[in-house]
Amino acid sequence: MDSKELKQKYLDFFRSKGHAIIKSASLIPENDPSVLFTTAGMHPLVPFLMGTPHPLGKRIADVQKCIRTQDIDEVGDETHTTCFEMLGNWSLGDYFKKEAIEWSWEFLTSKQWLGLDPKRLAVTCFEGDKDAPKDEEAASIWLSQGVPKERIAFLPKKDNWWGPAGETGPCGPDTEMFYWKKNNVPAPKTFDPEDKNWVEIWNDVFMQYNRTKEGKFEQLKQKNVDTGLGVERVTMVLQGLEDIYQIETFKPVMDRIRELSKIRNPDGGQMRSMRIITDHIRGATFILGDDKGIVPSNVDQGYIIRRFIRRAIRHGLLLGIDYEFLTQLAEIIIDLYKDDYEELGRNKHFVLSEIEKEDRKFRETLTKGLREFERLAEGKKNICGEDCFLLFQSYGFPMEITKELCEEKKICADEKGFNEEYEKHKELSRVGAEKKFKGGLGDTSEMSIKLHTATHLLNEALRTVVSKDIAQKGSNITPERLRFDFNFDRKLLPEELKKVEDLVNQKIKEAIPVVREEMSVKEAKAKGAQAEFEEKYGEKVSVYTIDTFSCEICMGPHVKNTSELGHFKIVKEESVAAGVRRIKAVLE
Ligand code: ALA
Repeated sequence: MDSKELKQKYLDFFRSKGHAIIKSASLIPENDPSVLFTTAGMHPLVPFLMGTPHPLGKRIADVQKCIRTQDIDEVGDETHTTCFEMLGNWSLGDYFKKEAIEWSWEFLTSKQWLGLDPKRLAVTCFEGDKDAPKDEEAASIWLSQGVPKERIAFLPKKDNWWGPAGETGPCGPDTEMFYWKKNNVPAPKTFDPEDKNWVEIWNDVFMQYNRTKEGKFEQLKQKNVDTGLGVERVTMVLQGLEDIYQIETFKPVMDRIRELSKIRNPDGGQMRSMRIITDHIRGATFILGDDKGIVPSNVDQGYIIRRFIRRAIRHGLLLGIDYEFLTQLAEIIIDLYKDDYEELGRNKHFVLSEIEKEDRKFRETLTKGLREFERLAEGKKNICGEDCFLLFQSYGFPMEITKELCEEKKICADEKGFNEEYEKHKELSRVGAEKKFKGGLGDTSEMSIKLHTATHLLNEALRTVVSKDIAQKGSNITPERLRFDFNFDRKLLPEELKKVEDLVNQKIKEAIPVVREEMSVKEAKAKGAQAEFEEKYGEKVSVYTIDTFSCEICMGPHVKNTSELGHFKIVKEESVAAGVRRIKAVLE
């Protein structure tokens, strides 16, 4: 069975259990300042886990493309990637532990579905602490399915609790499923979660808590289920492989790298380099191909693309590939995935040209930078933060590269010092960066919800005052401010900004109710609703209207009445890219 068939089977299975299928959301979260990327299928669903009704009902399933940079140091082994596809099924206040576990087991083991050997499966459950009790309930459901006691391990929060990766949001205990991947060694009778031959393949999270700012776990309005099954890992075990990089969506890339490097039998280090290149070029291709037009840069998502590409180049060099080669790999990846993610095909030219530019640019400084590194490292036990920063600023070496170069020389690199320098020089604060690299959940604080409604008013005010052709290009909300990107090709005049501001404030004063309705995309269009990217919507959508003024397809949440917003003020208007302007605004 290949990954395509696995994905189809999964969706068919959950459709047969009453789930509506939704499309993968973008890798770049909308209105979620706490994360750089969609790291799990639940991210785009946070409002619905918190209680906003989903237009397609209470049972949802999908295939979601994900990026998890926090696993970057583990990439290179047999099972880790930063870029992967996740299968997920959700109960939004509908079924709970019993159905979730029974269906997971049925899908994995039934001959009609995956038919995996139950003797090679084991599970973990939450052991309990001051916030939530030991999950005996989950364990007893596993026992009832025939999982022996010795194959059920209870683990603490750090292992068996999911979310919120950010500060606040939905979370809860989880139960994880593991598969014994060794073909020539029988699975031990007793499950040892430390043994790396047990590979985690699926996680069922019982999201019944909301973590508050104060660190308390309060009961959510509804009990949810959030699950995540890793496509690449399950494909690996279905194909009887022990190395994820041998499945059909990785192998052509690995093979090409091997050809280019002319290395027939890679040793451990060379194999690691090949895997890192494969994973990173895949990540860069997916992010670049994601319709948001993000390009390599030194901040936010753009910096991740840059780190992926540059690290791939360096590992290429370790394999003796000292010329531009990454576009060839990206092309293979686009061909493999363009049917499932049509945006990759559509953005192919953009993806390849950005990779080519970055590949060329970094090669210009790489050799000099390596020489500089040798000079700095000469006779030293460690490289200080300033020198790491010099390598970053003058030669474009992301910290990972300097760290790896140091490891190879068995010396230390002062990452903390680098971060301090970086903080001094970059608008992106170190704390912000760390948080973002860790991942997190949508911020649904009161202030963010208000700013979200203000964003709708701003969008329409711009269309009324400035041009009817204006449409949203991006939105990012923190509890402090909103940030709205839109298409327009010149700076707005002070009079225009004033008029926009006044119109928004007038609508706030008019105390208009914000109304949510469900309808088909066609009906929403007929109503004149604004929509950002059409293809991501399901057959039924939520539409938020503010009298006859504003009408947008949107996932919410919003305030009930515009009078809740306070005073609206634009604090900045600037250009972000050719033909794209950005407004930052606050509510006072
Ligand atoms: N959100 C859960 C995970 O990513 C399912 O593991």
